[in-house]
Amino acid sequence: MPGYLCRVKPLVTPGVYAPQDDTDLLAGALSEEPLSPGADVLDVGTGSGALALAAARRGTRVTAVDLSWRAVWTARMNAYLAGLPLHTRQGNLFAPVRGQSFDLILSNPPYVPAPSATRPRGAARAWDAGGDGRLLLDRICREAPVVLRPGGVLLMVHSALSGPDRTLGHLHAAGFKAAVTHRHRIPFGPVLRSRAEWLRRRGLVSAADEKEELVIVRAELPF
Ligand SMILES: C[S@@+](CC[C@H](N)C(=O)[O-])C[C@H]1O[C@@H](n2cnc3c(N)ncnc32)[C@H](O)[C@@H]1O
Repeated sequence: MPGYLCRVKPLVTPGVYAPQDDTDLLAGALSEEPLSPGADVLDVGTGSGALALAAARRGTRVTAVDLSWRAVWTARMNAYLAGLPLHTRQGNLFAPVRGQSFDLILSNPPYVPAPSATRPRGAARAWDAGGDGRLLLDRICREAPVVLRPGGVLLMVHSALSGPDRTLGHLHAAGFKAAVTHRHRIPFGPVLRSRAEWLRRRGLVSAADEKEELVIVRAELPF
């Protein structure tokens, strides 16, 4: 993978999301974020811990949360191998850190629109996010202010297919100053290729589309 994570690829165990272009785009946005050493960072949906460890390398105190125990153990193993401190918690989104507060939240959540009406199972829980791709995005917009300090920042990546304008609308309603700060077009991966016809029927992509756009949303709470 070209980019920010190529020199420090974490180990990935079966069933855990291998860092991809979305991870890398968010790592790039993180590298531009001013962060004082000792700042408290939360990586929600940490997977292999790639983003959490990118933040820990900057001397911040990082907590990494994932619903998947496999991901939590993998992140823990990668922190050990990198010789970096990392607090890991298993659980649903912000539930494991209720009562704590952070200066920065990083999130590369599941955001891919999925045809199945049922909740995703197995490895697909890392990317499938309901018919409109917003199963987790809306919750993050709504719940992030509860665990962010005044002046705190949310940096989140998702696909343009899952409604960046809706993300910005929810964040503004939650009291954030928010904008799309980075955009990057990438070829459809295997998941989007496998459901391209369904996406076309829903009007989310055109017949000629073979690329999707990833966006970084940066949202800041007032002091
Ligand atoms: C797209 S992967 C991103 C992994 C990693 N942050 C990266 O960028 O490479 C999304 C991650 O969110 C986790 N996840 C899904 N639903 C979750 C939830 N409700 N609470 C916490 N983590 C969740 C998945 O297990 C998966 O590890």
